[in-house]
Amino acid sequence: MNYQSFSSYASMSRAAAAMIADILRAKPECVLGLATGSSPIGTYDELVRMHREEGLSFAHCTTINLDEYLGLDGAHPQSYRFFMNEHLFSRVDIRLDHTFVPCGTASDPAAECLAYDARLKALGGADIQLLGIGPDGHIGFNEPADSFTVATHVVDLAPSTINANARFFDSAAEVPHQALTMGMGGIMAAKKILLIAPGSSKKAVLDAAMTGPVTPRLPASLLQLHPDVTVFFAEGHTSP
Ligand code: GLP
Repeated sequence: MNYQSFSSYASMSRAAAAMIADILRAKPECVLGLATGSSPIGTYDELVRMHREEGLSFAHCTTINLDEYLGLDGAHPQSYRFFMNEHLFSRVDIRLDHTFVPCGTASDPAAECLAYDARLKALGGADIQLLGIGPDGHIGFNEPADSFTVATHVVDLAPSTINANARFFDSAAEVPHQALTMGMGGIMAAKKILLIAPGSSKKAVLDAAMTGPVTPRLPASLLQLHPDVTVFFAEGHTSP
C-alpha cells in the first residue's frame, strides 16, 4: 500500500481529486468507482473546480457507486443517489445515464444485486475505486462479519454504522437498517484503489486495516491483498 499523510482535509482532497483527474485525462472513457459519506465531499468539490476552471471533462466516463440504503428513493435527500447528484453529477458534464448507484427501492433487491454485478462485470471493473472507511472498518457497506461477501448483497447495518450515519438524518430512528452494497469482489476488481480517511478518529482503524491481520472482522484489511492501493490520511476533517 502507498500511504500518505496530509496536514489538512483540503490538501488531501486536492491530491485525491488529482489522482482521479489523471485517470480521466489519460482515459476519458474510464470507469470511476465512487463513494459517499462526508470523506469524499472535498474531493468532489475539487473535481468540480477542475471541471469549471481547467476543462476537466466527465463526458465520456461511466461511474459506479458502492452502495445505497435499502428503502430510500433517489429523490430522498439522504439517499446516496441524491448525494451523488448534488455533490458531483449535477455540477459536471457527465451523462446521468452513465452513472450507476444501486436502486434502493428495487422491488426485488436480490435481483438488483445480481444486475449490479453483471453491470460491473460488463464495464470491466472500475479503473479507480474511491473508498472511505467506517468506524468499524467497513468499506462500502461491507460490515464486519464471519466471512467476506464477494458479490453485491443486501446487508444489515451494524449498530455503530447506524449511529455514525445518524448525523445526516433528523434522528437515528430514521436511518435505514439495511443497505445494498457492492461486495468485496467488486471492490477488489478495481484496477486501482484510493482510500481516503480524513480525521484523527479514523487513524486507529486505518492502522489496523493496513498493518493488522487480514480478517472479515475488519473488512478494509482485505485491501492489503490488492496490488495497487493508495491510502490518504488527513489530520483534519471539515465536513459534517
Ligand atoms: C458510510 C458509507 C461508506 C463511508 C462511511 C464513512 O457508511 N457507506 O462508504 O466510507 O460511511 O463515512 P464518512 O466519510 O462520513 O466518515
